[in-house]
Amino acid sequence: VISSATPDATFDALMMPTNQPMIVVTTAIDDERAGCLVGFHAQCSIEPRRYALWLSKANHTFHVANSASHFGIHFLGRANHDLAELFGGSTQDEIDKFARCEWSSGTAGVPLLTRCANRMVAKRVAQFDDGGDHVCVVVEPVEVVVHRGNASRLRLSEVSDIGAGHQPDEHLA
Ligand SMILES: Cc1cc2nc3c(=O)[nH]c(=O)nc-3n(C[C@H](O)[C@H](O)[C@H](O)COP(=O)(O)O)c2cc1C
Repeated sequence: VISSATPDATFDALMMPTNQPMIVVTTAIDDERAGCLVGFHAQCSIEPRRYALWLSKANHTFHVANSASHFGIHFLGRANHDLAELFGGSTQDEIDKFARCEWSSGTAGVPLLTRCANRMVAKRVAQFDDGGDHVCVVVEPVEVVVHRGNASRLRLSEVSDIGAGHQPDEHLA
């Protein structure tokens, strides 16, 4: 049995090998664009196809997402560490991320990151706040694009050098 000093540390040890792939979630309301790096996400229904992602209440993205209908969900490849750093290590509260990367405007104005060809635009069907520091957004795909290189995924262990632009507990302040 491997266990650590506290239940939280043991939980963290249990989660670590999951090493989830990283995505960038973007959204927009009119000219207000938002996007952040997300590690909490998974397919959550087969028929119909649905996807769940969890947004931190502390993030600029969360506040825009609350009023938005559509989301860009970009699966990062191993060549996209710089995008992970831009979207995960800085906040739109302080810089304009979209002035520092290539993007185009997609359905409902969702910013589509030019260098992330493996992606979907998805529409919110439900949102769930369990009282924790992240809120679950359930979406269904409306446009999906898969390109060569889809098997290359940038994973959590490869972005451990990035410090989040907002700490999740900031929403309590
Ligand atoms: C490795 C890593 C994983 C992250 N996972 C999530 C996540 O699952 N959900 C989320 O909302 N933020 C997550 N973040 C935090 C945001 O990407 C980060 O706070 C970002 O700077 C927020 O930008 P914004 O304020 O412009 O939305 C993660 C950050 C890192 C570095």
